[in-house]
Amino acid sequence: MRPPSMKLPRFVHNWLTYVGATIAILALILFVFLFVLQTLTDAAKAPYAGLVIFVIVPTVFVFGLILIPIGMFFEWQRWKRTQTLSIPRFPIIDLNNPHHRNAMFIFVVGSLLLLFLSAFSSYKAYQETDSVAFCGTLCHSVMAPEHTTYLNSPHARVRCVDCHVGPGADWFVRSKMSGAYQVYAVLLNKYPRPIPVPIGHLRPAQETCEQCHWPERFFGAQQKKLIHFLPDEKNTRWEINLLIRTGGGSPESGLTEGIHWHMNISNRVEYIATDEKRQEIPWVRITNLKTGEVTEYMSTEKPLSEKEIARANIRKMDCMDCHNRPTHIFHSPSYSVNLALGTGKIDSTLPFIKSTGVNLLAANYPSTDSALNAIENGVKKFYQDNYPKLTNDKEDAISRAIVELQNIYRNNFFPEMKVRWDIYPNNIGHLNFPGCYRCHDGLHKSADGKMITNECIACHTIIGQGNPQKMAFSMEPKGLVFQHPEDIGEVWQEMKCSDCHRGELP
Ligand code: HEC
Ligand code: HEC
Ligand code: HEC
Ligand code: HEC
Ligand code: HEC
Ligand code: HEC
Repeated sequence: MRPPSMKLPRFVHNWLTYVGATIAILALILFVFLFVLQTLTDAAKAPYAGLVIFVIVPTVFVFGLILIPIGMFFEWQRWKRTQTLSIPRFPIIDLNNPHHRNAMFIFVVGSLLLLFLSAFSSYKAYQETDSVAFCGTLCHSVMAPEHTTYLNSPHARVRCVDCHVGPGADWFVRSKMSGAYQVYAVLLNKYPRPIPVPIGHLRPAQETCEQCHWPERFFGAQQKKLIHFLPDEKNTRWEINLLIRTGGGSPESGLTEGIHWHMNISNRVEYIATDEKRQEIPWVRITNLKTGEVTEYMSTEKPLSEKEIARANIRKMDCMDCHNRPTHIFHSPSYSVNLALGTGKIDSTLPFIKSTGVNLLAANYPSTDSALNAIENGVKKFYQDNYPKLTNDKEDAISRAIVELQNIYRNNFFPEMKVRWDIYPNNIGHLNFPGCYRCHDGLHKSADGKMITNECIACHTIIGQGNPQKMAFSMEPKGLVFQHPEDIGEVWQEMKCSDCHRGELP
């Protein structure tokens, strides 16, 4: 049984050591095989391939290696018990003895190989668990909503970890530890649906967003043309042309103005939110960092007591208090259908297609498949019942509208995770969620009677609005007074837009 040429210490001859050596050798062969396969082909590029090759197989290899000395130790104990002579406490290693020399050789080469393999594997494991494929697709349905919206966003080329982990070793360790818990939660099906926003644990924007975006940069004003379609028979088009005063500032010029005035260059804005999603903000404090002047604003609707302020968690405002959905943007039915009509993906001459589409998208469905069926049947039925002649004349346009509505659904609705646009408030703007109006509602007052502004003109100028056939324009600095597309009188001045607008039809 013993190969005569290979002289090894007698203690290696035991079952545990044999099993350990076999496991280690098999794992090593498997590693080399899978590694070559992954390098040469695309077949093994799946997110788990890396996990198996660089995490699981090396773990098995090390396990096998550990069994070898354990087996030898027990064998040595057993041998000691059978000896009558007094024996030294430790085994004597004698390199003149070929048995010992061979064992030493195997040990040194084995250790070097192990060292190399573990350094290489841990580097690859690090790369692997930081990759977008790993974060976004390993847990399939769990991350599907975030991964899908991410792929359709301006940040599709930014890795998940650049926002969720950022640079540095301490956050790396923290993220891998919470990641290990998440893997456990997914395996045991213990995760919440929908996944709660991590805003309380997200790293400060200075260490993530500001690695790429430069807060000192001055943006100036941005023009945005927002195209709407009303829910009437003609899907009447309504455009709003806004000049948004994004602004910004630089420490050199001391210029800070516009919306990015909050960006902590010469001001510090802090606030208290009373709910987890940070939608209720009764208390705001600003500090002018140059003069040291401090102003506190309190909601006149729901003021906080001294005690509540003392106990509360005060947060310093940063990018994510406005740009909280920079990449996982779940668009509302109204927004999505407006966009599809505006870009011609849906034919806007189909009567009532805006309202039909929005209502079908906004309904509740148990699964994506049932939703896609319901959208197809719903659109067909609507035209068969109400415009039977069109069913033939515009057959093409109707089926294209169905396909586009189904695409919108797939990209923005995830019933399996209970995720849709109204689950995660978006804080930019004020149409469907309170957003800027959390503070700028005209109801936040300071002790000396100053108000956080709610003047439309503080944030943007309306330079054009209306139906393209009878559009009103203004090049005046004050722009136009807002005209609400539907006649609702002047109530838009008193109420929050989000009291009526929720991204679907009222
Ligand atoms: C541009 C920065 C950025 C990138 C890139 C990014 N995220 Fe996020 N992510 C955020 C922010 C900010 C939030 C918090 C949202 C909030 O507070 O409303 C968030 C929230 C989440 C949540 C909690 C659920 C939710 O929708 O709020 C999950 C899960 C998530 N991200 C996963 C991912 C995955 C997976 C990737 C890569 C495919 C990724 N993120 C890439 C910034 C980013
Ligand atoms: C790794 C670099 C990187 C990081 C980190 C990053 N961004 Fe970006 N961001 C970009 C790039 C690149 C673009 C431009 C994309 C384009 O124009 O196509 C962009 C675009 C934007 C835009 C403009 C979007 C639009 O609609 O045009 C906003 C707002 C933004 N980022 C906010 C954030 C916020 C908030 C964070 C932190 C949560 C963040 N970014 C983190 C690289 C980054
Ligand atoms: C007070 C809310 C608020 C804060 C805080 C804020 N932003 Fe913005 N940001 C806006 C608004 C509003 C716009 C205008 C564009 C829009 O409406 O989508 C904008 C526009 C941008 C753009 C696009 C500019 C362009 O020219 O395309 C970038 C990039 C951006 N912000 C990055 C940041 C970064 C980085 C931070 C943190 C240092 C930050 N913002 C903080 C509200 C804010
Ligand atoms: C946490 C509360 C808070 C939120 C949320 C908030 N702001 Fe502000 N904002 C303030 C405070 C406080 C001031 C300063 C009021 C003062 O002059 O004392 C201010 C001032 C401004 C100014 C005037 C700057 C100047 O030139 O004087 C603009 C413009 C502005 N905010 C835009 C926005 C926009 C747009 C949003 C939403 C994307 C927003 N803010 C969200 C608290 C907030
Ligand atoms: C604190 C800043 C602020 C104030 C005050 C403000 N807005 Fe806005 N408004 C915004 C921002 C930011 C957007 C988002 C622009 C975008 O879509 O990126 C916006 C968007 C809009 C839009 C376009 C909505 C859409 O999606 O088509 C309209 C219309 C509008 N505002 C009207 C008003 C009117 C009317 C008032 C005054 C009663 C007002 N706003 C007050 C910041 C403000
Ligand atoms: C009293 C309820 C109410 C308030 C408040 C209100 N709206 Fe509307 N709005 C409506 C109704 C009803 C419609 C027509 C149905 C629809 O399109 O949702 C409408 C339509 C619109 C549209 C076209 C909608 C589309 O589907 O694309 C825009 C844009 C709009 N409103 C902007 C605003 C803005 C900005 C504010 C706040 C300054 C505001 N509205 C406040 C009730 C309201």
